[in-house]
Amino acid sequence: MGRTRVREALGSEPGGQSITVAGWVRTKRTGKNVVFLEVNDGSSLSNIQVVVDSENTNLGQTAELITTGASVRATGELVESMGKNQKVELHAAELELVGEAPGENYPLQKKRHSFEYLREIAHLRPRTNTFGAVARVRNYISFAIHRYFQERDFLYVHTPLITASDAEGAGELFQVTTLDLERLAREQSSGAGPDYTGDFFGRSAYLTVSGQLNAEIYASALDRVYTFGPTFRAENSNTTRHLSEFWMIEPEIAFCDIHCNMDLAEDFLKTIIAGVLTDCGEDMEFFDKRIEPGIIESLSAIADSTFTRISYSEAVEALQKSTVKFEFPVSWGVDLHSEHEKYLTEEVFHGPVIVTDYPKEIKAFYMRLNDDEKTVRGMDVLVPRLGEIIGGSQREDRLDVLQRRIKEMGLPEEDYWWYLDLRRFGSVPHSGFGLGLARFIQYCTGMANIRDVVPFPRTPGNAAF
Ligand code: 4AD
Ligand code: MG
Repeated sequence: MGRTRVREALGSEPGGQSITVAGWVRTKRTGKNVVFLEVNDGSSLSNIQVVVDSENTNLGQTAELITTGASVRATGELVESMGKNQKVELHAAELELVGEAPGENYPLQKKRHSFEYLREIAHLRPRTNTFGAVARVRNYISFAIHRYFQERDFLYVHTPLITASDAEGAGELFQVTTLDLERLAREQSSGAGPDYTGDFFGRSAYLTVSGQLNAEIYASALDRVYTFGPTFRAENSNTTRHLSEFWMIEPEIAFCDIHCNMDLAEDFLKTIIAGVLTDCGEDMEFFDKRIEPGIIESLSAIADSTFTRISYSEAVEALQKSTVKFEFPVSWGVDLHSEHEKYLTEEVFHGPVIVTDYPKEIKAFYMRLNDDEKTVRGMDVLVPRLGEIIGGSQREDRLDVLQRRIKEMGLPEEDYWWYLDLRRFGSVPHSGFGLGLARFIQYCTGMANIRDVVPFPRTPGNAAF
């Protein structure tokens, strides 16, 4: 392309052949006979300083027209920089204003903008330091996750986005239909109830909440698989950790019990975190300095730590012993809230905690029932600052117990006939978990709001961009 990326240019020695860089102007400073342009092309957090001799008529006239936000192309030699921020700078022999950004209208002026404001200009926020860094870390983590599983013989399975069954049984589904919604409303008000035989799929259909049940099909044939794709939840949670659309990574392993599942989840998280620290150095230093002081040290400690493993009952006991007044009081049987999860990880165990064996009433129908008939072999991985980052379980592999659980939870057995078939023919103990990609990125970057680690967040009432 005849262009050098800014990252590569900044890592080069001064002198040598003339190079071309192109990008967007972050700032422009005018000195005596000289104009300094800070140009960024997204390849790194750092900008390259383009130095323009404004005595040169051509260059000077172009530089005059350039403002913050404009796109430019500059060709010249890399010269040792007098400034303390960079080793080299580019002395422009040619300068082109590619796309102007009329100054007074550009919404990203050089000053600190709030993340709330930047959410309203999601089409421009990738041009800021923070969102560029988040995008690079997100890219790195996605790639590292694939590499982790590929190197361990897991098969990547693409599971459908449109499904007919509720994988979590929680009823938080977005319905997909081509039916005339007004007619449907009329039918419903006349008490007839909607007739889905005329719908696109000849039945009611939804956006998937999880690829797990489909992944189980493939694990029941190919031993170890993982999914990595978007999931959707019509859950009306307006929190800093919930999205209506998020990407999830779901490994599923045959001949694997809850212990093997916990071992995998722990090794997986630690490996990816260690990789982020070594391979995203510049961006992580930025997050450490500007977003969450101390994050590098705390992530390094976690990459070297051993996660605490406790049962739900032990967690409840620890919470009940606490003198902290929780907003949601704790007793055996209640679901843990993020305040409880944070307390356990931050105040009691000072690191990640894997909680297992939850009451069956608060977990999904597919989790393996324990002999006590009260608890299931679920496991949540909780981390400081965030709470739940992974949810998983050993799956119920006994046909009769699974049928009973589906009935108990009031779910339509006929929707799960194929899922039950896996327990009829060659059933095996198997386990898996789901990692929410956005939560994990939040955890690694220290970004406080999940809306700021997703390029175009979808939350209740918000689907702009
Ligand atoms: O705990 P969850 O609901 O588990 C499942 O979906 C299982 N099918 C996973 C499995 O066993 N294969 O979700 C898993 C993870 C959570 O721990 C969290 O990280 C993330 O997905 N998650 C969300 N992330 C953002 N917004 C939401 N609304 C989320 N709900 C879950
Ligand atoms: Mg969960």
